Amino acid sequence: MHDPGTYALIQLMPTALRPACWALWASASVLDDLADQRDVAPADRAARVEAWTQALQHDLAIGTSTDPVRHALVDTALRWRLDLSSLQGAMTTTRDDVGSRHFADWTQWRAWCNEEIVPWVDQVWHLFEQAGAPMTLRLDRRKDYEQFVDGTQLTDILTDLSEDLAQEDLLLPQEALDAFPGAEEDLRRGRWSPATAALIAELTALARQWMTRPAMTKGMHPGAANVLDTAACLLRAQLDAVDAAGPTLLKRTPRLSVVSRTRIFAPARLRAAMAWSLTPLTVPGSRRPAAAAHIPRPSTDNAALRPPPPHSEGARPPQIPADQMPAHVAVIMDGNGRWAQQRGLPRPEGHHAGTAAVHEIVCGALEIGLRHLTVYAFSTENWKRDTDEITTILEAIRRDLDEGPLRDLDVRQRWLGHPDKLPQELVQALQRAERRTRNRTGLTLTMCINYGGRDEITRTAAALAQAARAGEIDPRLIGEEDFARHLPHPDMPDVDLLWRTGKEQRTSNFLPWHATYAELHFTPGYWPDVDRRDLWQAITEYSRRQRRHGAAPLTTNRSTVQASR
Ligand code: FPP
Repeated sequence: MHDPGTYALIQLMPTALRPACWALWASASVLDDLADQRDVAPADRAARVEAWTQALQHDLAIGTSTDPVRHALVDTALRWRLDLSSLQGAMTTTRDDVGSRHFADWTQWRAWCNEEIVPWVDQVWHLFEQAGAPMTLRLDRRKDYEQFVDGTQLTDILTDLSEDLAQEDLLLPQEALDAFPGAEEDLRRGRWSPATAALIAELTALARQWMTRPAMTKGMHPGAANVLDTAACLLRAQLDAVDAAGPTLLKRTPRLSVVSRTRIFAPARLRAAMAWSLTPLTVPGSRRPAAAAHIPRPSTDNAALRPPPPHSEGARPPQIPADQMPAHVAVIMDGNGRWAQQRGLPRPEGHHAGTAAVHEIVCGALEIGLRHLTVYAFSTENWKRDTDEITTILEAIRRDLDEGPLRDLDVRQRWLGHPDKLPQELVQALQRAERRTRNRTGLTLTMCINYGGRDEITRTAAALAQAARAGEIDPRLIGEEDFARHLPHPDMPDVDLLWRTGKEQRTSNFLPWHATYAELHFTPGYWPDVDRRDLWQAITEYSRRQRRHGAAPLTTNRSTVQASR
């Protein structure tokens, strides 16, 4: 955080965005410092972080602050219309991190990195978007971005090893330490041994590999690409310094020389000046009134959320025993066009009515306590439709994301699909909705847009092949779990119940990996006519089915229990 490299990187941003970047960086640094003060007891450090976070909430509400760093952040948030609520998770992690941290494996370590850093990076992306130079991220390169973030964090940890060890902190996963017997003890005792040297060499090589992602910046605005490429270059030079430090790594922080930094930044600044001169940026005018700002709240942003509006006739959800509830319901919303034609309306009207039906079903899902709902909104095959119809569907979704009633419900919105051919405004709205709702804990609503099941499987296979080529995975040992880990949303559970409206009885390239063992439910009505009671009915029927996943049927004394395969 205190590296002069960060200062120089911000200088590569367009001038209009720099003050906002300073404000974000300074705030993150202050919180980091409060959490790391060696001479203060952990509980007091946590209290200081919490007090700072709460003071920020207050300052945002009144639109000013007596603290210079918070004042800069408040001003930035109001001027650039930043939604700071997504920072709450990072601030809570910083507060909870003052004690000692332990990561069993790389997965836990990665989750911590994501909690700590990604929300801050998201704010910078949002700034670019507001300025009219969106740093559009390609979903098929998500793994590259994630590894890049991991690489920056690992470089930071290796650089600050001596400081962390002085505080008896070792921020490396146990899995990595165990691969070099004796290294952990030597590190903790400040002993530079062959095991320690081998561990450090392995980790610098890993970080270097994670940060060497040439495909990551392809197609990006050259100014934004320059910032990321220069950051990678800087961090790789920092890793060289870590490697060169040898035993002194355990005593002091290796720093890049002014000459090395200049070699990296002099050409980068020239490139930045040229790249940003290509794009006229939109600088915001007057500040938004303070009361309208999105502010972080003490624990979650749930205070801003409202319960789902009740059913129009007051219907209430059935009580389903927890062990009989599906974890994941996926829906093929069929029949919009026929619904419209039946009424003598143009087909696009069916999609507008279908959007309202999505809201109704989301309310029903929240009321019955469903965890995951996935809807098939636009398939890779739907491009064969008339251009007007395609535009109507995609624009209805875009408008719904930005203005629709789901915004204020406890719904974490996610997108599954491919960005190619989709309008950029829709991709940005989808990414915005994901960022805005990422900390919500109610229903996870996954919208499949420009989604195809075979396309998903092909891309996942390609990601696995890439991982194998990079030496991250042994192709002879690839199993189902490895495949699942490389899917776009590895945490998405298997589909328990697959529901299709509109009379047809097929699955149409929808979630083939996840729905292999799904119970199927077909209903004759058209999608715009559904009501939350239809979802509840589907779940009730599901709760009565017996699922065997290929096992033999259960037997009783007298008979074999009837079971569906
Ligand atoms: C299938 O019916 C439906 C679609 C291809 C579009 C579904 C999209 C929505 C309902 C909008 C979703 C909105 C959000 C917010 C997720 P069809 O047109 O194939 O109907 P048909 O079989 O009668 O022709």
